[in-house]
Amino acid sequence: MTGDRPVTDDLHSARSDFPPGFLFGAATAAYQIEGASFGSAGPSHWDSFAATPGNVVGGDDGSIACEHYHRWPEDLDLMQAAGFDAYRFSTSWARVMPDGTGTPNPEGLDFYDRLVDGVLERGMKPYLTLYHWDLPAVLAMKGGWTNRDIAGWFSNYAEVVYDRIGDRVAATATINEPWCVAWLSHFVGVHAPGLRDIRAAAHAMHHVLLAHGTAMQALRAKGAKDLGIVLNFETASPATDTPADIAAAGRADAIFNRWFIEAMTGQGYPQEVLDGIGPHMPAGWQDDLDTIAQPLDWLGVNYYTRALYADAPDMPWPACRAIEGTLPKTAMGWEIRPEGLREFLVRMGQGPARGLPIYVTENGMAGDDILEGGALHDPVRMGFIDGHLAAAREAIAEGVDLRGFFYWSLLDNYEWAFGYAKRFGIVHVDYDTQKRTPKASYHALSRALAR
Ligand code: FCB
Repeated sequence: MTGDRPVTDDLHSARSDFPPGFLFGAATAAYQIEGASFGSAGPSHWDSFAATPGNVVGGDDGSIACEHYHRWPEDLDLMQAAGFDAYRFSTSWARVMPDGTGTPNPEGLDFYDRLVDGVLERGMKPYLTLYHWDLPAVLAMKGGWTNRDIAGWFSNYAEVVYDRIGDRVAATATINEPWCVAWLSHFVGVHAPGLRDIRAAAHAMHHVLLAHGTAMQALRAKGAKDLGIVLNFETASPATDTPADIAAAGRADAIFNRWFIEAMTGQGYPQEVLDGIGPHMPAGWQDDLDTIAQPLDWLGVNYYTRALYADAPDMPWPACRAIEGTLPKTAMGWEIRPEGLREFLVRMGQGPARGLPIYVTENGMAGDDILEGGALHDPVRMGFIDGHLAAAREAIAEGVDLRGFFYWSLLDNYEWAFGYAKRFGIVHVDYDTQKRTPKASYHALSRALAR
């Protein structure tokens, strides 16, 4: 941390404003930080997606990333020094099982074994996510999430990880952001495998939940506890108050914010979405709803922004068009709207996730971050964190059983289709030297956690 200049700005929220035992953490994901070329990992569909011209800014891939595979002790030291209670990380399927199924890669399992011990040795709780998007390329070639067999493939992988580190993790999420896994990747087409096909999307929308439910059953059969899932939520607001725009925003809301949680909590799929993808669903999907509705032990909520939708009758279903909003935006162009976090926490806590512990498993922003004289002043991020911590406190005051808050992300990292161009970290990474420099937001959070 040489050259690192602490700033005096403080956040308004402090640890003492939250209930006793509330966990503060930071989140990362395997492909975004580890360096997929190290440790005999197998290729994933993100490697091939990134190797295809036009998919990723700068053609960047995750082969080196933050070299966390080697530098994890330093990264965990940074977490500990900040006073964090928990670390949310993911295991890479392609690293653990290079062929997707069958014999695991011992180097991969050893890595996660060391990592979990390292988290515990530093007095923090490990929060595991089993799938944060690095699908083994072999399985992608077999249709990936469009193939029903993925339920069994994923469960077997989940069992292998559980057998090695399940005794020491505090909680396990099956899948990170099924909307991104299914919709963003098979309908919008901007994440691997980059499909734009409603039939592929419908199959993925169902199979991602079937894989979740099947893995929940397999892990419970092994005695696993504290099993949940991480969903992303995005406010879908109508561009105007016309009935047509309100209905368009309702369709977007159903796809993004209702499909997954309603099916998992036994309510089936929302009709607004079946109206569009119903004809493209895999045959017999209704018979899987019981498997999908396994009881959850907790729910992870990721929240970043809102979107505005206008009706687009000239387009096929869902016939809605995103309209640019007018709120202040992050470097991603995402509107900053902390109220949305409170709204989703209350909507889940008083609705489908009533009675479940809830965690904010991701919230954060990319900024135009520039190192100056060995320090990085990021007041916009500090304000962003402050606003969202305040929203979390309001949700708690309204009775939501919120247990923790994980900032996305600990480190600047591989931001998927944006490559290394977008910086979400509270710690700056110089990708030429791999030097880590805590930003002002890191210091501010650290001081807040000490108060
Ligand atoms: C979420 C992802 C995470 C990161 C943030 C910015 O959708 O889970 O990997 O890309 O967005």
